[in-house]
Amino acid sequence: MSTELSTGSTPSPGFSPPRVTVRAPAKVNLHLGVGPRRADGYHEVVTVLQAVGLYDELTVTEAEPGEAAGDGPAVTATVEISGEGAVGPAGDPAVVPTGTDNLAVRAALLVAEAAGLRDRHIHLAMAKGIPVAAGMAGGSADAAAALVACDELWGTGLSTQTLTELAARLGSDVPFPLAGGTALGVGRGEQLSLVASVGDYHWVFALADGGLSTPSVYREFDSGATEGRTADGRTEPTPADAVLAALATGDPATLGAALCNDLQAPAIRLRPALGDVLAEGRTLGALGALVSGSGPTTAFLARDAAHGADLAAGLAASGLARAVRQASAPAPGATVL
Ligand code: C5P
Repeated sequence: MSTELSTGSTPSPGFSPPRVTVRAPAKVNLHLGVGPRRADGYHEVVTVLQAVGLYDELTVTEAEPGEAAGDGPAVTATVEISGEGAVGPAGDPAVVPTGTDNLAVRAALLVAEAAGLRDRHIHLAMAKGIPVAAGMAGGSADAAAALVACDELWGTGLSTQTLTELAARLGSDVPFPLAGGTALGVGRGEQLSLVASVGDYHWVFALADGGLSTPSVYREFDSGATEGRTADGRTEPTPADAVLAALATGDPATLGAALCNDLQAPAIRLRPALGDVLAEGRTLGALGALVSGSGPTTAFLARDAAHGADLAAGLAASGLARAVRQASAPAPGATVL
């Protein structure tokens, strides 16, 4: 890591380079209605997203110019990963990339471009609490955190609207962790509006070995589909009315019964063991159980924190999960610490 500013001046003892740390939340889709594949390859969705209290923390530090300084790109970045997804075989979707294919690095570049900055050098340290390639939008949380952190570090003062537009360019799920809370998403999932949600919810997440790639789950969803129709004959995403009505009541049992994910069946076809984890959670008394996003994490809704602790202990004892996490929701969006 750099110990000097890029001016090359000798740092005074105790000098530390400017740095900003941002915390961003994971998400669970309470509803994920998926329509037919569009001409651009994406699927029209109607989704209800809830930010949950599992977080990644991203620290961006001014660094020494790397080898690409001078006529190099607007931003050079070194990346350090700790926590979830820090180690594993190269090419495994559950291992976080450290090059320019890292979504947080691309986010830093977009902030520099939007603000007309050049010759920026940063070190990104990502402490990951969100499982990787798990259907909880961890990469999107990192990208959202990087947008906020670079805007703060460089004093670029980009508006929330501009940050949200940059987020949507990075991925369908990136605008949501900027905002947090509970939101309805349409289009690719990136067009968000606030949802009236009462009360707090208590979740248990069963983490799985290895990741599932989102495009592969959407491809499986498309198997058997015909032009303009999903495999089950729909021309539109499944509507979210039941989940929206449940959120307005604040009753976890009503929400648990309304949870819906059109990607669940294709995710289970790719990973049959997920069906066993869901069944175990239901047997243990979860109010609702579903695959989170495109999986392979499974999500279980509890009555309250104590019930969540019981569910977590039961799922851990079943041996069906790599690890189990408890989290409350809704959680706030990306926040400078
Ligand atoms: O937007 P993002 O890059 O995160 O999407 C990753 C992939 O997920 C897309 O390339 C596409 O295969 C799939 N996807 C989709 N429909 C959506 C969102 C994502 O088909 N609404």
